[in-house]
Amino acid sequence: MKALVALLLLTQLLNCKSIPVGPFQPLLSRVIDCDDPESEEAAAIAVDYINSHNLHGYKFALNSIEKIKVLPRRPTGELFLLELDLLQTECHIVNPLPAENCTVRPITDHVVEGECDVKLLKLDGSFSMLSRKCHSKPDSAEDIIQICPDCPLLAVLNDTRVINAVNLALAQYNGEHEDVYLRLVEIGRAQILHLPDSVSVEFAVVVTNCSGKDAQEHVDGCLPEDQRFGFCKASVLTEGNITVSCEVYGHQTLCLKFSITGVAPLVIAIAGVTHDHLTKEHLGGEIPSLSKGFKHHDLRHFHRGPAQDTSDSSSQEAPVATPPAAPVAKLPLCPGRIRHYQV
Ligand SMILES: *[C@@H]1O[C@H](CO)[C@@H](O)[C@H](O)[C@H]1NC(C)=O
Ligand SMILES: *[C@@H]1O[C@H](CO)[C@@H](O)[C@H](O)[C@H]1NC(C)=O
Ligand SMILES: *[C@@H]1O[C@H](CO)[C@@H](O)[C@H](O)[C@H]1NC(C)=O
Ligand SMILES: *[C@@H]1O[C@H](CO)[C@@H](O)[C@H](O)[C@H]1NC(C)=O
Repeated sequence: MKALVALLLLTQLLNCKSIPVGPFQPLLSRVIDCDDPESEEAAAIAVDYINSHNLHGYKFALNSIEKIKVLPRRPTGELFLLELDLLQTECHIVNPLPAENCTVRPITDHVVEGECDVKLLKLDGSFSMLSRKCHSKPDSAEDIIQICPDCPLLAVLNDTRVINAVNLALAQYNGEHEDVYLRLVEIGRAQILHLPDSVSVEFAVVVTNCSGKDAQEHVDGCLPEDQRFGFCKASVLTEGNITVSCEVYGHQTLCLKFSITGVAPLVIAIAGVTHDHLTKEHLGGEIPSLSKGFKHHDLRHFHRGPAQDTSDSSSQEAPVATPPAAPVAKLPLCPGRIRHYQV
C-alpha cells in the first residue's frame, strides 16, 4: 500500500513537471490519417516540388503516404512531416506534362521506387516546403524475376552497348530530320534484351541552332538554342535495324542549363562533362557521372531550391517540444492507400 501511494505521488509529480510553465499555452499536436485530404494536399505539394527540382531522370508520382506527423509550431502554424513512397513515371523531367498526367511505369518494366522524407509548414491554410530528403532505387532483380521471369532488367548506362545504341539511334534520327539537329542531354534508362539481341534505350535531347547540314560542317558550333528539349525512345537490333522516335517539346523554362563546349563526342556528352550545368551551385557539386556505372538517376540529385536537401533540422523551423501525451493518443491510420501497386 505504501508503495502504491508512493507511486501515485510520483506519477503526480511527473505529471506536474510536464505541465508547461510560463506564458505559453500548451500546444497540442493533431493526429491526422495518411489518407486525410489534408495529408494528400501536403503530399501533392511536396511531389510537385520534388519533380520541379529534380535535375535528372524521370518525374515521380505519389504511390502512398507512409507516415504523417503534424506538430504545432511557435508562434503560429504547423509543421507537417511526411514520409512518401513514389514511383517513377514514363515522363522524363524535360517533358512538360504535369506528373499527374504521366503514366506510372508498369511493374514489369523494372520500376524505380522513390522514398522521400519531407517537411512542410502550414501557415494560414497554405503549405510551403521546408526540406526534403529523397532517394530512389530500382526494384531488385529478384523481385522482377519473380513477377516476370522474361522481363528485361535495367542496364548500366555506361555500358558500351548502351552508348553505341544511343549514338546510332540519335544519328539515325538526325539523318532523317534535316531541319533541326538534336544533341544528347542524358540517357534516361536502358535495357539489353536477348532473342533477338537488342538494346532498348530512352534518352533526353536538346534542340540546337543547327540544321543537319550545319552539323555536318561544324558540329561543335551546334549549341542548345533555347530551352527546347525532346525525348527519344529507340530499339537497336543491329546497326542496320534501328527504330527511333523522338518527341520535341516547345520552349520551356527549366532550371536545367547546358553549356556544351568544344567538340563533344556523344560519349563525353553523356559522361556529364558537356552537359555541365552553368549554375553549378544548383547541384552543390553533386553531378552524377556515368563513370559511376549507375542504372538510374537517383532522386538524391536535386536542384537546390529554398527547401534544403538535407533532412537534418538545422532548419530555423525547429518544432516545439512534443506536448505532454494526451490522455489517450489516437493513432493515425497509416500507411495510406496504395495508388498504383505494391513494390
Ligand atoms: C492533365 O489531366 C487533367 C485531368 O485528367 C486534364 O484536365 C488536363 O488537361 C491534362 N493536362 C495536360 C497538359 O494534358
Ligand atoms: C549557333 O550558336 C553558336 C553560339 O552562339 C554560334 O557560334 C554558331 O555559329 C551558331 N550556329 C549556327 C548554325 O547558327
Ligand atoms: C528490322 O527488325 C524488324 C523487327 O524484328 C523486322 O520486322 C524488319 O524486317 C527489320 N528490318 C530490316 C531492314 O532488317
Ligand atoms: C561503368 O562504370 C563502372 C564504375 O566506374 C565501371 O566499374 C564499369 O567498368 C563501367 N562499365 C563500362 C562498360 O564502362
